[in-house]
Amino acid sequence: MSTDRIRNFCIIAHIDHGKSTLADRLLDLTDAVPERERVDQILDTMELERERGITIKAQAVRLLYNRPDGVWTLNLIDTPGHVDFTYEVSRAIAACEGALLVVDASQGIQAQTLANLYLAMEHDLEIIPVLNKIDLPVADVPAATEELVELLGVGPEEVLKISAKTGEGVREVLDAIVERIPPPKSARRQTRALVFDSNYDPYRGVIALARVFDGGLEKGDRVRAMGSEEEFEILEVGCYSPKPNALPALQTGQVGYIVAGLKDIGALRVGDTITGVEDPAPDPLPGYARVLPTVFCGLYPTEGDDFERLRDALAKLQLNDASLFFEPENSRLGFGFRCGFLGLLHMEIVQERLEREFGLDLIATSPSVKYQVVVDGEVREVTNPSDLPERYDEIREPVVRATIICPREHVGAVMGLCHEKRGVSVGMEYISPLRVQLTYDLPLAEVITDFFDQLKSRTRGYASYDYEPAGYQPADLVKVEVLVAGEPVDSLSIIVHRDKAYQRGRALVEKLKELIPRQQFEVPVQAAVGKRVIARETVRAYRKDVTAKCYGGDITRKRKLLEKQKAGKRRMKQVGRVEIPQEAFLAAIRI
Ligand code: GTP
Repeated sequence: MSTDRIRNFCIIAHIDHGKSTLADRLLDLTDAVPERERVDQILDTMELERERGITIKAQAVRLLYNRPDGVWTLNLIDTPGHVDFTYEVSRAIAACEGALLVVDASQGIQAQTLANLYLAMEHDLEIIPVLNKIDLPVADVPAATEELVELLGVGPEEVLKISAKTGEGVREVLDAIVERIPPPKSARRQTRALVFDSNYDPYRGVIALARVFDGGLEKGDRVRAMGSEEEFEILEVGCYSPKPNALPALQTGQVGYIVAGLKDIGALRVGDTITGVEDPAPDPLPGYARVLPTVFCGLYPTEGDDFERLRDALAKLQLNDASLFFEPENSRLGFGFRCGFLGLLHMEIVQERLEREFGLDLIATSPSVKYQVVVDGEVREVTNPSDLPERYDEIREPVVRATIICPREHVGAVMGLCHEKRGVSVGMEYISPLRVQLTYDLPLAEVITDFFDQLKSRTRGYASYDYEPAGYQPADLVKVEVLVAGEPVDSLSIIVHRDKAYQRGRALVEKLKELIPRQQFEVPVQAAVGKRVIARETVRAYRKDVTAKCYGGDITRKRKLLEKQKAGKRRMKQVGRVEIPQEAFLAAIRI
């Protein structure tokens, strides 16, 4: 079957530059969704995504574009924009021949614009530069066009200028897709399909989104996932337009879904290649890599009885998120789980989904990274600060290479911040007369605390950043322990650079002093490195009578206050004899 009339493309952009809005307009123009069913950002299906306005999971939609020269099949593959989900972006990119590079005309090129562009260039995609939001009064179309011309080496006339909001120029985008992006090509006879998204459906099992590079897939075919070596029968194939639509087959060059009926999403992960069992391809498509979590924290239910419910909820989320890691853990907080995430945003999303979709009330410990600890020549991995052995020969921490783009006048502030965060400068370059790209190697542990917030506030929101892992390096790190009433609170331990131990310990105890409610006795709060106490505060004794103010008042009012106090206490955790409220744990994260 000819692939001449197929175009596979994705939209890549920095966060908030208008990727989802443009996707909506493309759907409108190809009449994919009847007028009355239209909602904003139709591709962001998860409730949470819609609320936060971010795209978490990649999706694919088949659009039929009618032109005087006939009907064209355009497969739009949506990609997540956030740095935590880079691996999914790269798989989605690998499934396409071309990409729309969307840039907000009021902001110009940003860090994730570059990161995504480089991924697309690595896969030799045809890049169509699209300047969006030209309707905004603050849009600087000539300056942004100039940046794209410089970056891509294209003529200014090749940069499309649109408003995804008003629809201006969007038809030209469809024409450019047809005219500039090459049709898919196949090199082999044996079937090979790249899985670029994988979801679990409670009724139908694993449903994968795949791009067929060679051969074809049909209902009833016996196939094998070459990475996981799992064999299964295809129960159904089809495409989203955008509703699921069963098809007899997915041919070479096409994109669609595969119902595999598998019970474990790990058996058909993003990046795997599907081939036939009978006439298998000799080698898989490039790029099967397991994504490993980089940020870890402990999650504990506030109600001890919820432990099993938390386990079920995590297992359910994992069905749809092969990158989520968890294992049971036991600490002073009771029974909970040590969980691993791709990054801070991933962690927040998982926590929020657990609370919202599963109605769980959770306490999260400070996030940490995975350290390598060398003990007697043997390398151990430590993700929980309380597991750090007392003696070790060396400790190594993960490092990332960060790219930061900011206006020239903020370079000093950015360099100052990177320096404070123990960064090492790798390079600096002007991307336009007014804007600079800085490259730094930074410890991941410093990046996951408040780096991004600081960067935003010190540059008044004008800087953007992106990072990629850059291995491990030895560092002078120590464990700071917190003692409340003489008892160590293991969930509050942190691993920090020796130079920052005092400052972090001081900040921790000061914050805890404010947040631990007064008890009927005096409570010392201390921070210690090894046996040495480096900071101390005292919570004075006090007994709180919440009904004191309504002496002689209405009994129902008193009862209400007592109820309120009771509800507040429910969220507290008993540590030794002292109750530590959740805010104290959360504060430890933010310091
Ligand atoms: P992520 O999915 O989080 O990566 O964001 P996105 O790139 O998909 O951005 P989205 O489409 O959600 O747009 C971000 C914001 O910009 C929304 O508030 C849109 O309404 C707005 N926006 C998008 N396109 C335009 C445009 O052409 N003009 C104007 N004025 N606003 C736009």
